[in-house]
Amino acid sequence: MPIANALTFPALMPAGYDHLPSEPQFDAARHLALERPESRIGLADLGYEEAEIATCPSDLAITSPFRVLSDEGAACLLEVARQLAPFATSVQRIERMVRGGTYRSRFLRDLCQSPDVNAFLSKVFGAPLLPHTIPHQLGHLNFNPTQVGRNVDKWHTDTLRIDYVMFVTDPRAVQGGEFQYFNGTKHEMKALAEAGKPIPAGRIVSPALPGPGYAVLQQGNMVVHRAKGLREAAERITMVNGYVPAEIGFPDFTRYDQLYLADPHHVVTEEYARHVAWMGREMLTHRIDNPAFADDRGSEAARFEQLAALFSGAAEQIRNAGTATEEHFGDGE
Ligand SMILES: [Fe+2]
Repeated sequence: MPIANALTFPALMPAGYDHLPSEPQFDAARHLALERPESRIGLADLGYEEAEIATCPSDLAITSPFRVLSDEGAACLLEVARQLAPFATSVQRIERMVRGGTYRSRFLRDLCQSPDVNAFLSKVFGAPLLPHTIPHQLGHLNFNPTQVGRNVDKWHTDTLRIDYVMFVTDPRAVQGGEFQYFNGTKHEMKALAEAGKPIPAGRIVSPALPGPGYAVLQQGNMVVHRAKGLREAAERITMVNGYVPAEIGFPDFTRYDQLYLADPHHVVTEEYARHVAWMGREMLTHRIDNPAFADDRGSEAARFEQLAALFSGAAEQIRNAGTATEEHFGDGE
């Protein structure tokens, strides 16, 4: 598959966003402390079939916890996250979240687009990655709900392919607030939710995250996960950073209709359109730059059909946005 060129971060600042007045400057040498995870769970371990795994850019489901930030890096991110907290918005799934922080914070943008982190995660993932081409899929921050016991986020799969979930605050300093995933497929979870059945406790996994700046990397569209509520009032902040496969041509799980429910419409429309245009550009550039005199009608037709499906699917999503409801699997235990 062709390897895509990165998409530059938009040079324009959307209306309603401003830079933080003062913040630390990201320094990879001081702020990163990248350590390989000890183990990984494969998609097959969750029960996915070979044919479905073949449509994914890697066979990784989720890693064991690993370190991303140094103590100083974690302290800087916490400072930035607290400055961004007043910009929190709410959806049915998540009571307090900050999206689009990479426009406001250069620290957050530089961390989320760090070439060092990208190269490291590509190795862990097992396929080349790029920081997500939709800026609102970078540096998503979740904050604890105002009410003790309310889940930070309900059971769901992501509308992106690959992301890491990192604790910004110290997970050991609070009661509850665990990141959890379902040891099964999204199809099994859908069947459980539709039948109104509880999730068997033995199939819920709570990885032990050893401190702030530690994360798990997952194929977020394939792993059903959630963030549990706190049992006592406390500050709990996590950051989710999204990536796209650098190999162009895998099905894209971006859902404009879902993003439209969460993000400012003037921003999400521009970001989604640019993301789709980038995928099309990369496929077309690869075709133009690799000429071959051959009568390969089947693959030529398939390529144009894939492009047509990409663009017509995007057009349909853009036309129909505003009628969707939020998709998730609820709070079921
Ligand atoms: Fe998620």
